Amino acid sequence: MTVYVPRDSAARSVGADQVAERIAEAAGPEVRVVRNGSRGMLWLEPLVEVATPAGRVAYGPVGADDVDDLLAAGLLDGAEHPLCLGPTEEIPWLRDQTRVTFARVGVVDPVSPDDYVAHGGLAGLTRALSLTPEQVVAEVTDSGLRGRGGAGFPAGVKWKTVLGAVSELKFVCCNADEGDSGTFADRMLMEGDPFTLVEGMAIAAWAVGAAEGYIYVRSEYPDAVATLRAAIDAAYERGWLGKRVLDRDFSFDLFVRVGGGAYICGEETSMLESLEGKRGMVRAKPPIPALEGLFGEPTVVNNVLTLGSVPMILADGAEAFAELGVGRSRGTQVFQLGGNIARGGVVETAFGITLGELVEGYGGGTRSGRPVRAVQVGGPLGAYLPTSRFGLPMDYEAFAAAEAMVGHGGVVVFDDTVDMAAQARFAMEFCAAESCGKCTPCRIGSVRGVEVIDRIVAGRNRTADLKLLDDLCHLMTEGSLCAMGGLTPMPVRSALTHFPGDFGVTTEERR
Ligand code: NAI
Ligand code: SF4
Repeated sequence: MTVYVPRDSAARSVGADQVAERIAEAAGPEVRVVRNGSRGMLWLEPLVEVATPAGRVAYGPVGADDVDDLLAAGLLDGAEHPLCLGPTEEIPWLRDQTRVTFARVGVVDPVSPDDYVAHGGLAGLTRALSLTPEQVVAEVTDSGLRGRGGAGFPAGVKWKTVLGAVSELKFVCCNADEGDSGTFADRMLMEGDPFTLVEGMAIAAWAVGAAEGYIYVRSEYPDAVATLRAAIDAAYERGWLGKRVLDRDFSFDLFVRVGGGAYICGEETSMLESLEGKRGMVRAKPPIPALEGLFGEPTVVNNVLTLGSVPMILADGAEAFAELGVGRSRGTQVFQLGGNIARGGVVETAFGITLGELVEGYGGGTRSGRPVRAVQVGGPLGAYLPTSRFGLPMDYEAFAAAEAMVGHGGVVVFDDTVDMAAQARFAMEFCAAESCGKCTPCRIGSVRGVEVIDRIVAGRNRTADLKLLDDLCHLMTEGSLCAMGGLTPMPVRSALTHFPGDFGVTTEERR
C-alpha cells in the first residue's frame, strides 16, 4: 500500500512532514509513504493521496490531527470521509489543465530514477542523442518554444547561436533564481520533478556542444537545492550524466550553485557574474551570452521552465507542442496564482486562456471574499490590470499590446482594499532597493520616483509632478541598461492609468 504526502516546501510549510510522520507511525510498516511533489492545488495542502486499484484518491487539507480519524475511517482503502476529494485526476481544477512540463510533478517520487523512467523519463534525451545537434535545435525551433523566464525569446534561435559559435568550451546555465514575487513554478518543478530539468539540460548541452552546466538556484530555495543535488547524484550513478551519457560519445557534467539573495542575479548577465564568483552586476549587451557568456564562452542561459519543457518536446515531437497555444505563443505556460486568491497554485494550460478564466475560474476570486480590484501579471515589474481587462488572452503579443507582460506567468490578485498609489510607490522602492547601481536612470531614477509619487499623492503641484513622473518613466524605460530599471515604469504607469483616483488624480489631470 502506498500513500503520497508531498514534500514540496509549500506543503511542508503547512505541516506535511508531521502528517507523513504520523501516517508512517500509525499505519505501520506495510504502508509505504512516498514524499512526492505537490499537485499544485496549494489551498488543499497537505494533500494526501492513497494508491487504490482504481487510481489515486485524494484527501485534503489533512492535518496531523486528522490522521488517526482518517485511518479509522479506512483511508487506506480510499474510503469516503469529509476530507475525501475523490480520484485526484478527476478534481476539476487538475483535470482541466494541460500538463506538459508539469506532467510528472506530484505523480512521481522526485528522487527515484526508476519512477522517472517508469513515467516516460529519458525518452527525450534518448531521442535527442539519436539525432544530430542541428536536428535537435531544429526540433526546438519548430516547437515554437520561447523563453519562459519572461522575455519570450525563441529558444531554438538562442541554441542555434550557441551551436554556431566556434569554441572549445561552451556552457549551459539554468536560471533558477526565480525572484519575481508571486512566482513559484521553477521551485515546484525542481522539488517535484528534478530529473526533467537534468534531462532538459543534457539535451541542451548535446544540441549546442557544451560539456558543462550550472543550475543557479536562489538561496531562499534550500529544499530545491537539496532535491536537485540528490537527483544529480542519482543521475551520475545511472550514467545519465558524466563521461559517457547514456553510453554515447557525449560527456556532460552538471553542478548546482546557490545565489546570495539579490533579485538582480536573476538578470542573466548578473547571474553569470555571480557564477564566476563576482558581485552580481549587470553586463552591457552586446555581447550576448550566447556568444560570450560564462567565463567569456558561448553559453545557453535558459529558465527552469524552458529547459523543463524540452524533454517533452523531444519525446513527443515539436508538432505536439506547437499545436498548443495561440499566435506566436506556442505550447503551455505554467501560470502561478497567488496573492489574495481563494484557490492559489499552479495552472499549466495552453497559451490563450484569458486572465479572467485564470483568476475567477481557476482561482475562484479573492480569498477575502471581497471583489477583485487589480491583478499584477508578470512579477513586480509587470502591469496592474483592472477587471475590465479580464478578457485579455494570456499571450505574449496580446499582453504587450495592452502595455503589460506575461513575464514568468505569475498572477497576483488584490481585492478592493488595495491602494494602487502605494503599489506604484512600492515598484519604485523595490527598484531602488534591488538596483545593481550600474546605471543612473535606475539607481537615481527609482529614488526620485518614490519622491515624486509621494508629491503627487500629497497634491501640492500635481500637474507638474505628473509631467515629471511621465518624463522619469520615459527616461527609465529608454535609458536603463537592463529590465530592472527598464520595466519598473510598467507597474507605475499602469497603476496611474487604470486607478488615477488612488493618486488623487482626476481623469482630466491624467490626460
Ligand atoms: P532580453 O530580451 O534582453 O533577452 C532575452 C534573451 O534572449 C536573453 O537570454 C538574451 O541573451 C537572448 N538574446 C537576445 N538576442 C539574442 C540573439 N540575437 N541571439 C541569441 N540570444 C539572444 O530580455 P532579458 O533582459 O534577458 O529579460 C527580461 C525579462 O525578464 C523581462 O521581460 C521579465 O519578464 C523577465 N524577468 C523575470 C524574472 C523572473 O524571476 N523570472 C525577474 C525579472 C524579470
Ligand atoms: Fe543595474 Fe538598474 Fe542599470 Fe539594471 S537598470 S544595470 S539593475 S542600475
